[in-house]
This record gives sequence, C-alpha cells and structure tokens, in this order.
Amino acid sequence: MEHEMKKVLSLLIAVVVALPVAAADPKNGKSLSRKCSACHGKLGIARDPEVPHLAGQSARYIEKSIMDFQKGERQDRRMSLIVKNLSKADIKDLAAWYSSLEISVVDPNSN
Ligand code: HEC
Repeated sequence: MEHEMKKVLSLLIAVVVALPVAAADPKNGKSLSRKCSACHGKLGIARDPEVPHLAGQSARYIEKSIMDFQKGERQDRRMSLIVKNLSKADIKDLAAWYSSLEISVVDPNSN
C-alpha cells in the first residue's frame, strides 16, 4: 500500500515538474515573428539602423528585453505597443526562433 502511494506520488511530482519546462517552440516563434519582420527583418537582421538585429541573440536576453518592454521598464513607442499582448509562451517561442538563427562574424582586420 505504502509502496503504491509512493509510486503515485512520484508520478504526480514528475508531472508537476514537467509542466513549467514545456519546451519553447521555435516553429511557432517563426510564425509569430511575421509581425516583427517589418522592422527586425525576416531573418532577424534589421535594415533600419535604429532597429537592433535579433538573429543569433541569446534567448534569455530576448525574453528579458520583451518582458522589460511589457513591464514598462524599457520604453520604445514601437516595441511597447507590439509586445503588449504577447503571452509568456509566445515570448519564449519568439526568443527560441530568433536565437536559433545562425549568424557568422568576420573580423575585418584578420588576414
Ligand atoms: C515598428 C517596428 C518594430 C516592430 C514591428 C517590432 N520591433 Fe522590436 N524593436 C524595435 C526597435 C526600434 C527596437 C529598439 C528599441 C530601443 O531603442 O530600445 C526594438 C527592440 C527589440 C528588442 C530588444 C533587442 C535588443 O538588442 O535590446 C527585442 C528583443 C525585440 N525588439 C523583439 C521584437 C519582437 C519579438 C517583435 C514582434 C513581436 C518586435 N520586436 C517587433 C522595433 C520594432
């Protein structure tokens, strides 16, 4: 009996632990990024010099930036408006998409 209880309990714990770490979905992030691409570029490389590139940026930094815009801790009239209704899951998916884009860097002075 006690053994059964332990089994059920550890199963419950496993479920509870698994829930919050639901993996981010970069595919969904890609489709959500359609409303970002006018400014940040289709692949996260912006053309407007006032807009930062997002390709290859760390997911953590992207998530934090978006949440700062949501909370008003960081302000920009364009960003503050566009991130208003993004859910936590959307933010994670967008961050996963942009961070998955591979970029390469060339040092112009190395030869
Ligand atoms: C109308 C143009 C526009 C759109 C659309 C837009 N952004 Fe931005 N984004 C900006 C600008 C401009 C900044 C820089 C703001 C600043 O100076 O702080 C920025 C900054 C950011 C940053 C911070 C980057 C950094 O290096 O600090 C992130 C992350 C970001 N945007 C994500 C998104 C996502 C995700 C979307 C779509 C849901 C989006 N943006 C849509 C214009 C835009």
